[in-house]
Amino acid sequence: MDREDYVEDILDHYQHPRHKGVLDPADSKAEGGNPGCGDIVTMYMRVDPAGRISEVSFDGRGCTISQAGASMLTEIAIGKTPKEVEEMDYEAFIDQMGREVVVSRARCATLGLGTLKAAADQYLKEKRAADGA
Ligand code: FES
Repeated sequence: MDREDYVEDILDHYQHPRHKGVLDPADSKAEGGNPGCGDIVTMYMRVDPAGRISEVSFDGRGCTISQAGASMLTEIAIGKTPKEVEEMDYEAFIDQMGREVVVSRARCATLGLGTLKAAADQYLKEKRAADGA
C-alpha cells in the first residue's frame, strides 16, 4: 500500500466506523483519553467460552486518526485472546495504519489500542480473581 492507500483507508474508517457503539453487556470495557486534546475512546469486548474475543466495539469522539485507529482495531482484535491483545505491539499497529501517515500522531493512532489493552488487562485480572476464588 502506498501513502494514498493508507490515507484513503483511514478516511474510510473515520467516515464509516466499524463496530461503533456501546456493547451491552460487555465482559470488559475501558475508557481512555488523550489529555493533550481531550479526545476520548471507550473500548468494549466480549469473550467467548473458548477464551477468544468474539465482539469488540468502540465509542468516542476525537480526531480522524484516533477514531479511525479504534475502528481498524476492532477488526484486528476479534478472534484474538485478551492475552494476545495485551501483547500487541504499538509500533506494529502504527505500521498497519500507515507509518508515514500517522507516525507524527502516534498518540492519536494508538489511543484505541492502549484502551483496549486496558480492557484486556482488566478482564484477565477479574478472571484470575474469579478463578482463584
Ligand atoms: Fe486528540 Fe488525536 S488530536 S486523539
